Amino acid sequence: MNRIRITMLCLLVVPALLFSQNVITPGGVWSDDKGEHIQAHGGGIIKLGKKYYWYGEARRADNDTSYRYVGCYESEDLVHWKSRGHALKLSDPEQLGQRWVLERPKVFYHKKNRTYVMYFHLDDARYKLARVGVAVSKTPQGPFKYLKSFRPLGLESRDIGQFIDDDGTPYLIFESRPTKGFYIAGLSDDYLDVVKEVCFIRSPLEGGAVVHYKGLYYAIGSALTGWNPNPNKYATAKTLAGPWSEFKDIAPPETNTYGSQSTMMLKVEGTKAVTVIFMADQWKPKTQWDSRYLWMPLQIGEGRLWLPEPQPWTLNIKTGEWKPAGDQRKVPF
Ligand code: DGJ
Repeated sequence: MNRIRITMLCLLVVPALLFSQNVITPGGVWSDDKGEHIQAHGGGIIKLGKKYYWYGEARRADNDTSYRYVGCYESEDLVHWKSRGHALKLSDPEQLGQRWVLERPKVFYHKKNRTYVMYFHLDDARYKLARVGVAVSKTPQGPFKYLKSFRPLGLESRDIGQFIDDDGTPYLIFESRPTKGFYIAGLSDDYLDVVKEVCFIRSPLEGGAVVHYKGLYYAIGSALTGWNPNPNKYATAKTLAGPWSEFKDIAPPETNTYGSQSTMMLKVEGTKAVTVIFMADQWKPKTQWDSRYLWMPLQIGEGRLWLPEPQPWTLNIKTGEWKPAGDQRKVPF
């Protein structure tokens, strides 16, 4: 074989091999089935049957700027993601002006009503509106239809997160600037409203996320530093209503959470192990489409939570086990 043929073969085979591997590379470019960097920033994941759906801000450079978009991706192994297009394409629903904001979409599935309910942070350019927007769909990939916006429990709400407890009860997490903390709140029977204050955690944190692991609730969040990363922190409680412990660092503070900001903790329950994945964004405010995802299994248990130094890793979705991919390259941050 001549050199050109060998080079051609490598160009074809090497990417195919990399794609077929079950490697998650924190901070890397994460391609979907079309070879495009996944657009699901500030996102959240739900599991329906065997399938995972990942929703998040779709911030492609060539988006029509009068719309905001929510991307939807589907996967059975959390590694290979098929693009299901835009679950939501929305033009300024409340006349907020050119630079209106749609951030951190989260979707809940209402089993009885067979309805998907999407919450997102809706705001004007100066982040003064501080509401949630709600949109609904009969299919996971949408198109979702905009319904309304409001301040949950009548309170200013900016970053939102979602938590679905082991019994299926859905909760909205939202940051409340005036009261310097964040709420965990219960939804109405149809999921279309936020009706119950379950807990107010008096700590000025956003990017809020909660997981229930071996009898304890763990909450994480990041400080209020705009798009810049900071040391994310965690606290624990025996019940969602608290009392919650003091907040502690989840990683060496000088790494600023390895340049990332929390968006969710995803529990993968396999036949042999339960792995909790820290899902975070490495924001690039000037080139948002290129913002990266930092996903890394947490060391968690007995009241402690720690984010190990990110490195490529593999996940066995059946057993729930994970291990380093053996690739020791440093993660960019
Ligand atoms: C931090 C938030 O977590 C992001 O979702 C976004 O609202 C930025 N602040 C805006 O500065």
